[in-house]
Amino acid sequence: MCCADISGYLEGSESGIQDLGRIGVVEDRIVNIICANLNEKIKMNIKKIGPRIAVNVAIAIEHMVLRALDFELGTCWIRAIDEEEVKKIFAWDENTFIIALIPVGYPHESPMPRKRLKIEDIIKNR
Ligand SMILES: Cc1cc2nc3c(=O)[nH]c(=O)nc-3n(C[C@H](O)[C@H](O)[C@H](O)COP(=O)(O)O)c2cc1C
Repeated sequence: MCCADISGYLEGSESGIQDLGRIGVVEDRIVNIICANLNEKIKMNIKKIGPRIAVNVAIAIEHMVLRALDFELGTCWIRAIDEEEVKKIFAWDENTFIIALIPVGYPHESPMPRKRLKIEDIIKNR
């Protein structure tokens, strides 16, 4: 289950960038610039930060999907899930948003690629 815990954004406490600064990965002056922007973000409501968070998690998911492929594992994006039921099972609070369920396993079959439009039919020259 791939989720976003938004409490860090809402409380405005520790941020990932501050952690990176503390361990010396990112220079202090860069941390300060980014944190100035983060403070603005913290003031945003969930409607505004929601899409950004979802995109961040989606990027992470695609990295997991591609890495799984390196090990010949198959995956499938699943959005058709009962989110409330899942949250109950894991006892997640309202600050945890489910982005997708990604089952991982060894494929039982190798179906032919589905029919695709030709690239010329998708991108037309003007
Ligand atoms: C955001 C997202 C949600 C999806 N949700 C489901 C799902 O709930 N159940 C499912 O079987 N496949 C789901 N898929 C997989 C798609 O149905 C499809 O298999 C995948 O996008 C590849 O399709 P294509 O080969 O036609 O490009 C989802 C894919 C994406 C990107």
